[in-house]
Amino acid sequence: MNSFGERLQDCFRFSLNGKAPPLNSDVIVALEIYARWLSKGAPRGVKLTGAGYPKQDFKPQRSPDYTRGKEVYVNHCASCHGPDGAGQQIAGRNVFPPLWGSQSFNWGAGMHQLDNAAAFIKANMPLNLSSVLSDQEAWDVAMYMNAHERPQDPRYTGNVTTTRAKYHNTPMSLYGTIVNGWLLGSRPAQ
Ligand code: HEC
Repeated sequence: MNSFGERLQDCFRFSLNGKAPPLNSDVIVALEIYARWLSKGAPRGVKLTGAGYPKQDFKPQRSPDYTRGKEVYVNHCASCHGPDGAGQQIAGRNVFPPLWGSQSFNWGAGMHQLDNAAAFIKANMPLNLSSVLSDQEAWDVAMYMNAHERPQDPRYTGNVTTTRAKYHNTPMSLYGTIVNGWLLGSRPAQ
């Protein structure tokens, strides 16, 4: 079982590709208390209206495709996230987050899985224009985004194939598969 504090640490390790503060640090404790404050008065054991994003029955009609995804990316995403996926920074801070490359979420983040990414993108992207993409376009652009190199999974065993077998043994992960002629996860993200 993972504690809530441990789940928060995972956001640092995977989503932010950073170092997690210790469980008893001011940062983790403050985040726990903030979350508790946010949940004040919420009913238990019931999914709250507006929580998360819809995922059931969210399947593509055709297999997600890199080339179609690239077209979606160029037309709907590159203006903010950059033609090379590096996002945009002002004074060293991300205004638009990188989607791949050395500064993005890493191979251990939930976002690297096609189903998570497609559902997130469909519900939230382009920013504030959630109804723009079709389901198929959301899957295609998720495939394009997640077919690029990103920082290594922090649980890396020293070998991509065994890391895939241990942590990413699902068709929703491209880690450890060959896309466009190279083994994803096998070389440092640029
Ligand atoms: C108008 C600018 C804009 C456009 C266009 C846009 N995004 Fe975003 N995107 C953002 C911003 C800003 C965030 C950060 C949102 C936040 O942190 O609340 C974001 C966040 C994301 C994230 C989460 C990144 C992370 O590290 O968790 C993904 C994935 C993403 N966008 C994908 C896309 C895709 C795919 C498209 C094209 C279909 C797209 N975005 C179009 C502005 C944009």
